[in-house]
Amino acid sequence: MTCALPYANGPCHIAHLRTYVPADIFVRFLRKMGQEVVFICGSDTHGTPITVKAEEDGVTSKEIINKYHGHFVEFFPKIGVNFTNYGSTDHPLNHARTVQIAEALMENDYIYAKSLKLPYCPTCDRFLPDRYQRGTCPHCGASARGDECDQGCGRYLEPGELMDPRCSVCGTKPEMRETRHLFLRLTAFEDFLREYLPQMDGTDIARNYALQWVEKGLRDWNITRNMDWGVRVPGEPGLVYYVWFDAPIGYIASTEEWAERTGGDWEYYWKGAGSFIHFIGGDIVYHHCLFWPSMLKGAGYDVPYAVAASGMVKVESKVFSKSRGYVIWVEEDYLEKGLDSDALRYYIASYTGFTRDLDFTWQAYGDKVNKELVGSLGNFLYRALLFAQRNYKEIPEGEVEPEVRAEVEKTIESMRQGLDNFEFKKVADAVLALSAYGNRYLQAKEPWNLGKTDPEAAKNTIHNCLWLTKALAVLMEPVMPGKAEAIWKQLGDARKETPLAEALEPLKAGTPLEKPSPLFEQIPDELISELSDMVAERIAKASG
Ligand code: 2FM
Ligand code: ZN
Repeated sequence: MTCALPYANGPCHIAHLRTYVPADIFVRFLRKMGQEVVFICGSDTHGTPITVKAEEDGVTSKEIINKYHGHFVEFFPKIGVNFTNYGSTDHPLNHARTVQIAEALMENDYIYAKSLKLPYCPTCDRFLPDRYQRGTCPHCGASARGDECDQGCGRYLEPGELMDPRCSVCGTKPEMRETRHLFLRLTAFEDFLREYLPQMDGTDIARNYALQWVEKGLRDWNITRNMDWGVRVPGEPGLVYYVWFDAPIGYIASTEEWAERTGGDWEYYWKGAGSFIHFIGGDIVYHHCLFWPSMLKGAGYDVPYAVAASGMVKVESKVFSKSRGYVIWVEEDYLEKGLDSDALRYYIASYTGFTRDLDFTWQAYGDKVNKELVGSLGNFLYRALLFAQRNYKEIPEGEVEPEVRAEVEKTIESMRQGLDNFEFKKVADAVLALSAYGNRYLQAKEPWNLGKTDPEAAKNTIHNCLWLTKALAVLMEPVMPGKAEAIWKQLGDARKETPLAEALEPLKAGTPLEKPSPLFEQIPDELISELSDMVAERIAKASG
């Protein structure tokens, strides 16, 4: 399992988590069902996203990637995302694997060299790859940068395609200079893609977009850039591989890092009996469903079993944009305010379907936490545990009622369906529905009255409630791992990551119970206003 590699040019934001949280839920669930998963990610350290940032900050590219690579390594565990290996595309293993894959493609005649004229800035005295030029999108007329129509139609642009280019550093109109580049013969993979894509598993968006592009016709892909930061092309001075060539290879190299560290077998996953799944943002389907499978196929590797592409992100109902201030920095704006990592995971999973637009607004966040996590889930768990601890000091004896068991079985079924279809909302909603059932059950049985008239029946009710509590600890772990562990503790048990089947196992009566504490905290209205104001100010500042 892989997650798209974040550029090591800035800290983690909400749009990253839009993909990483569902991916982490998926991995935890697969493991719960007994599958062996290597969960791979790493820093994307090359290309103009890095060099432009380094130049802006007046430091070297190496300094930028070290800084943000360090940030990501420390950050992910704080949000419960635990990669088996978090690598870096600047690792020697990635440089070597990139060269190996390119050589294999050359041997199979899938790479050729060609001279072409590209924009060169006489003032800055350099070629202007990708983000070093701004101009007009040839497809939609919007203002765009060299490799992507970032403010219009979102299309990927080949070098030389942008109209009326200007140097984005000094504004000079570039001259066109002849330079030699390498191309991947993408057109040779058309038949392969037509056959492969329809049977590729994953989300419809990934499959259908990719197939549409194939229908529209493919063009060969320029895989090199006139730069010195990146994976150098042997025998071609002044050229490095394009960042989108070496970045996905980073998935393999990160697996090799893991293999080197643990003695694991990376080839099992990439060219053996194992298989691999990519979780990505919806904006990089082109790269993962056309370029990448072609590269793998042409170099003799296996192809992705599935590509799951998430929907896009909005902040306060406007399209996510760092430059326009529509951004939530997860560490600074969220964790450092003392807010709960699992509550954010829950929001991301349950706000809307995985392939739809996720809107992060502080108001919706506060409502969800207060109504669903505090009002329903937390309320049931706290009431059940508190009643048990006050009255019995231990887990009381009892028999699990058929209706209660059926409810947990239904929850498991619903979660499995959600997982099969990459519908993580279904997974999160199922947890909430089970807690709502628990609340109804407790309310209907009224153990506080039964205690006087029929103490055995009251005990049995609480046994059932604690059995549901345990089931919730098992079932909510993929979405809210920290809270699941806390529930286990309150049940007097030290477990955290348990197999799915544990949800239906009996509960050990007689286990002593400590005084419980509420799992979720109410978010006060004042805090929501304060956080909304913070984003509003940032937006105002960005628009000047
Ligand atoms: O779009 C991005 O943010 C890229 N850094 C994603 C790379 S994914 C993979 F190919 F490495
Ligand atoms: Zn466009």
